[in-house]
Amino acid sequence: MTGRELKDMYLGFFREQGHAVITGSSLIPQNDPTVLFTTAGMHPLVPYLLGEPHPAGRRLCDCQKCIRTGDIDQVGDISHLTFFEMLGNWSLGDYFKAEAIRWSFEFITSKRYLGFSPDRLSVTVFQGNANVPQDTESIGIWKQLGIPDARIHALPEDDNWWGPAGQTGPCGPDTEMFIDTGRAACGPACRPGCRCGKYFEIWNDVFMQYNKQVDGSYQPLAQHNVDTGMGVERTVAMLQGCSSVFETGMFRAVLEGIESMSGRRMTEHADTGRAFRVIADHVRSSVFILGDEQGVSPGNLGQGYVLRRLIRRAIRYAKQVGLQNGFTVPLAEQVINQFAAEYPELETNRQRVLTELKNEEERFEKTLDRGMAELDKVIGQLKAHQQARLGGRVAFRLYDTCGFPLEFTEEICAEHGITVDRAGFDEAFEKHRAVSKQSMDKAFKGGLADASDATTRLHTATHLLHKALQTVLGDHVHQKGSNITAERLRFDFSHPAKMTDEQVRTVETMVNAVIQRDLPVTMGMMTVEEARADGAMALFTAKYGEQVKVFTVGDYSKEVCGGPHVQRTGELGRFRILKEEASSAGVRRIRAVLEPAAPG
Ligand code: SER
Repeated sequence: MTGRELKDMYLGFFREQGHAVITGSSLIPQNDPTVLFTTAGMHPLVPYLLGEPHPAGRRLCDCQKCIRTGDIDQVGDISHLTFFEMLGNWSLGDYFKAEAIRWSFEFITSKRYLGFSPDRLSVTVFQGNANVPQDTESIGIWKQLGIPDARIHALPEDDNWWGPAGQTGPCGPDTEMFIDTGRAACGPACRPGCRCGKYFEIWNDVFMQYNKQVDGSYQPLAQHNVDTGMGVERTVAMLQGCSSVFETGMFRAVLEGIESMSGRRMTEHADTGRAFRVIADHVRSSVFILGDEQGVSPGNLGQGYVLRRLIRRAIRYAKQVGLQNGFTVPLAEQVINQFAAEYPELETNRQRVLTELKNEEERFEKTLDRGMAELDKVIGQLKAHQQARLGGRVAFRLYDTCGFPLEFTEEICAEHGITVDRAGFDEAFEKHRAVSKQSMDKAFKGGLADASDATTRLHTATHLLHKALQTVLGDHVHQKGSNITAERLRFDFSHPAKMTDEQVRTVETMVNAVIQRDLPVTMGMMTVEEARADGAMALFTAKYGEQVKVFTVGDYSKEVCGGPHVQRTGELGRFRILKEEASSAGVRRIRAVLEPAAPG
């Protein structure tokens, strides 16, 4: 079974169980400053998991493209990827544990679907902790389905609790499903979750019944949700009888491309194999990030920095296997060709993807050899003096003059048993970039959408700003990105030139006039086509016929959006633009705040 066939079968199965198939979201989260990338199918659904009604109903399923770089140093093993596709089904306050687990079991084991023998299935469940009891309900359901005790493992929070990257948000116990590959156990402690390759995790059913608060307590959610995630590449590996995701047909073209360009065989040495896998993974991720509907460019902050790190890391491994400059472009073309039918944005952005990759490769080529020589020298000196720590200033010099991402220096040092002074690096970085308030660490914090009143007000203000910009600058203005914290909004939009001071003032005045008219903000549900015909501004390319929410501000603006928004514009206070600046080629960025309205 191919990846495509698996996706069709999964979505078909859940459609039969009354789920609406929704379109996956962009890899770049909208209106959410707390994560850099969409890391799971549930991420774009957070507002709905917290109780907002979803226009498509209470049973949803989709296939979501995801980026996770937290495990980047494990990429190259049998199962870790920085880009992957996740199939998911959701219950928004509808069904709960019994139905979710039964459907997972049926889909995995029924001959009509994946047809794995139930004897190969092992599961894990939450063993309980001081806050939440053991998930005996899930244990009971698995037993009823015929899974013997020996293959039901109750494990701690680290294994069976899903609470996304950040501090707060919807969370709960989960149950994970593993296929036994038939390999011998690596020892008596070998169990699902062990990385030896015996057990391959393919699916996770999360039972979101709590909302974790800032103070660390768990507040029961009014609605019980189910969030499931099946890894497409991992499941395909098991279906195709492979011992690693990289052996599947999904990676064949790219790996063969690396073999023919380097003239080496992937199997000739363990290091060659790993380098091939890292290159294949990182090029694939870079293509999806660059080719996203909201594509970003390599840079020194946020998503751009992650992208840069992926490309540069691929280049470093490419050197190890003797790939010539320019190797990213033919590999990227293979990835685009493979996925364009399912992700048309890759085709639309083909040229941009290839050009950005080529440029980034050239930029790094210029300094890579010099940087490696310098780093080798420093490592040699440290070893000669029996020191195991590289100074933060040296790491910053490598970053600043040779373009070595900090993690890159750390990784090479780690191969020699040397650590890097991160605090010293941050200090040098801050000194150098006093102008930029965003530190490296900030760019990597995770978390969930914040629906505080302040954020909600700024979200509505963003709609007004979007409309005002179109009115003042022209119809070519489209949202390219939005990032809102409780303190400020940041809005990226297409426009070829710097705005004049007068244009900035006019936009500001226009937004404040709408605020003063105290217009009502209302929400309606309709199909994408109806929304478009109605003149709503739409950011996402939802599928034909899909139901969407449209937020209307009086007679002023209409936009397809998930919310939340204020009830009346009068709640916003006073809108002030702090800054208008370049974001990337052809894209401008506005930072703005809301201040209390002047009295009277
Ligand atoms: N959120 C869970 C995961 O990513 C299930 O979708 O594993």
